[in-house]
Amino acid sequence: MSSGKKILLGVTGSIAAYKALDLASRLCKKGHRVTAVMTRSACQLVGPASFESLTGNPAALELFPRQKPQQIEHISLAQWADLVLVAPATANFLGKAANGIADDLLTTVAMAATAPILIAPAMNVNMWQAQAVQENLKKLKAFGWKIIEPESGRLACGDTGKGRLAPLEAIEKAIEEALYPNQQLVGIPVLITAGRTEEDIDPVRTITNRSSGRMGYALAVEAAARGARVTLITGPADLTLPDVEKVVKVRTAEQMSQAVKKHLPLNKALIMTAAVADFRPSKASAQKIKRGSGSLDLKLEPVADILAQASRNNKKHALMVGFALESKDLLANARKKLIAKNLDLIVANDSQTIASGNIRATLLEPKGRAVKLPLMGKPELAGVLLDKLDELFKKRKANQNAR
Ligand SMILES: Cc1cc2nc3c(=O)[nH]c(=O)nc-3n(C[C@H](O)[C@H](O)[C@H](O)COP(=O)(O)O)c2cc1C
Repeated sequence: MSSGKKILLGVTGSIAAYKALDLASRLCKKGHRVTAVMTRSACQLVGPASFESLTGNPAALELFPRQKPQQIEHISLAQWADLVLVAPATANFLGKAANGIADDLLTTVAMAATAPILIAPAMNVNMWQAQAVQENLKKLKAFGWKIIEPESGRLACGDTGKGRLAPLEAIEKAIEEALYPNQQLVGIPVLITAGRTEEDIDPVRTITNRSSGRMGYALAVEAAARGARVTLITGPADLTLPDVEKVVKVRTAEQMSQAVKKHLPLNKALIMTAAVADFRPSKASAQKIKRGSGSLDLKLEPVADILAQASRNNKKHALMVGFALESKDLLANARKKLIAKNLDLIVANDSQTIASGNIRATLLEPKGRAVKLPLMGKPELAGVLLDKLDELFKKRKANQNAR
């Protein structure tokens, strides 16, 4: 269910090639799909099998592969990629790319790609300072390629100076900026709740609902892919847990409430997608309730309103995003909830959404008109909502600066 991007990771014959393994692994953990394209020299320094096991995709090595003669490998790879990243990039690669030479798979893919291209060079300090390398870098920048500058320090060859591959964090940041040019979620802590809750009737029976958790999980994956530091508080959901900074598993509304109270003070936004029970049995039976001849009366009591409480106590430092699922008077009820709970944004959706992969949503803010969105997949809506969240962060910052 990843809504991450497709990243073509070019690896060339630099001593820093082993660092590309860690990079590939980090990118996959963020939900991106990674295919390594390795030069022959790179294969002398690290093995394609390592990239294959970390990314789950075959590493591409040959311009004329024997296995897939029916496919033109360099064109299909170039079309597949949302982003081409060459890390580490050798002086040789820079020279070939800057001068229109396409004599192996990587240089040919780079020339055929229409996606943004990022280059993280790594080499000896004297090579870095060589006039040819500097001229080639100028040319590549003029092509619109982004260069992630190497850092200074002690180099593998023993020399000291500029030429060491940029820190992986800097490369990851450049990737996020290239993939999401208008996004600024990088490093922002965001709390997302997802799934349903279960309220006990007796030791084996519960009151619950049909929420799948898909919306919240899609948001968690997408927010993490955009660089946010995501804490996901999840009730039961029949999905694989996304790989985000922190996952807190809960079952009941009370546990979810406690978890939100604990984690929200450390976060800058709460996105409350969880379908929390509104009522629970006033008293859960300690023993399994036996079938009798008559009917069973269950007395239900309301549970605490997690979002309203969270908003009251954290509104100053965190943005509040809620979901309203209504079976009638959708927009009027959603607007009421938006105002009553003092939210920054509410996502109104009808009851067909629950347990479905798709959602038809309307976005409402305290000021402004309702924005009706077409039917779309939940990962796609996650992207739209996070664009909106970014806009809200920017507005809040501008307001704070104006004061
Ligand atoms: C052990 C070793 C380490 C190397 N490290 C680098 C390096 O960090 N940067 C670089 O530009 N070239 C480095 N080279 C030289 C390149 O591997 C060489 O220029 C090669 O032709 C590059 O091919 P490629 O660009 O197709 O990968 C290294 C060579 C060896 C033998």
